Amino acid sequence: MNIAVIGAQWGDEGKGKIVDLMTPHVSVVARYQGGHNAGHTVNVGDTQFVLHLLPSGILHSGVRCVIGNGVVVDPEALFAEIATLASQGVEVGDRLLISDKAHVILPYHRDVELFAEEKRGERKIGTTSRGIGPAYEDKVARRGVRVSDLSDSTDDGPLAAAIRENVSMRNLIVGGVETDWRTVHADMCAAWTKLERWVGDVSLFLSRAMDEGDRVLFEGAQGTLLDVDHGTYPFVSSSNSTVGGICTGLGVGAKCIGSVLGIAKAYTTRVGEGPLPSELQGWAGDKLRETGREYGASTGRPRRCGWYDAVAVRHAVRVNGIDALAVTKLDVLDSLDEIPLCTGYRLGGKVLTEFPSSVSTLAACEPVYETLPGWSRATAGVCQYDELPAEARSYLERLQAVTGVPIAIVSTGADRAHTIVVPGGLIDRWQTASKLVSPPS
Ligand code: IMP
Repeated sequence: MNIAVIGAQWGDEGKGKIVDLMTPHVSVVARYQGGHNAGHTVNVGDTQFVLHLLPSGILHSGVRCVIGNGVVVDPEALFAEIATLASQGVEVGDRLLISDKAHVILPYHRDVELFAEEKRGERKIGTTSRGIGPAYEDKVARRGVRVSDLSDSTDDGPLAAAIRENVSMRNLIVGGVETDWRTVHADMCAAWTKLERWVGDVSLFLSRAMDEGDRVLFEGAQGTLLDVDHGTYPFVSSSNSTVGGICTGLGVGAKCIGSVLGIAKAYTTRVGEGPLPSELQGWAGDKLRETGREYGASTGRPRRCGWYDAVAVRHAVRVNGIDALAVTKLDVLDSLDEIPLCTGYRLGGKVLTEFPSSVSTLAACEPVYETLPGWSRATAGVCQYDELPAEARSYLERLQAVTGVPIAIVSTGADRAHTIVVPGGLIDRWQTASKLVSPPS
């Protein structure tokens, strides 16, 4: 009965809304990778919530939320997010558990990231400047600071030594105004006094919760094509946003995962650099961006927009074992006469139907389109599949055919209510079964 919600494109697919919709049927929502580079937007009535580090399930009062060891945590960003939510009437209270093994984003990680991006010049990645990459670098280099390390406030203990060593490296690499390790150490010790109440063993917690019959929703951040292994490397984030990240990022076995729901927009967007084969240049891209309000929820950057890329989503289906898709933002296509759909890539006289591993190959690919009729009618707010215009249903059915998995949810607007749960589909069956088994505790 557990379920994973995974981005099937380059992030920003609308995972926040879908997780929020499914949360009433689970007891625990767990984030397993990424950090506050994510921006999950959830609209409830007139209120808009934007979650960065906290799982989207936090908006539901009875639900416990978990931040796994695979996540990188910036304590200040976390406290700011908790305070913003409190000002919007949502109390985190004791519903949060942060892995003692999660790595900490320290202030100098951001400096290192900005420095590296500047040095890359034209080859820059277009990162979110949150210190995510350098925090993961320190983790893999085995010089990182874990959440539980923050409890050591002594000046000559392991935390002080790690910070001193890392800060001196930062000062060597970045130069400019030197960071004082004592300030960083004091800030981290102060952060611990606020964090401590939420810190614990996530793997053990999840194992016990599942033994007691609790259902868990695993919430992915970013998307498959931003995964450090399976994405468009090096234009990717630094974590495994694909399904495998759940096991390593939470300390759970593969058999716990249950079903996998992939989230894909009815078109494609990407923030930052790197190839995007179906990208629309000029006014057409601008129009899609304005209609879809495609600006980053974390950074406000304009997103690059293009047509639905079935090659990319098929890749996501394979590497994640996606059982069904939630297709979001269908309504953004409402005013179009025709809608191109990318079904392959042309490269040197051949048509590729599988996503290439090499980013330079991908950059040389031309999209192969088939064109479907638009519906030129509003679908915004429609919540029954049968009430969609025939052309919209045909478009979705074609997406299903070229992607190779059934569609279980169609989102027709930002509001929770603007959602079609496809009758008899994965989520319809999952919701019915979860009501039959037991209500969330
Ligand atoms: P980083 O995660 O800040 O290192 O950024 C690496 C790449 O991932 C950049 O292209 C970012 O724009 C992109 N990225 C990171 N997080 C998100 C997200 O939540 N949505 C969309 N793109 C993201």
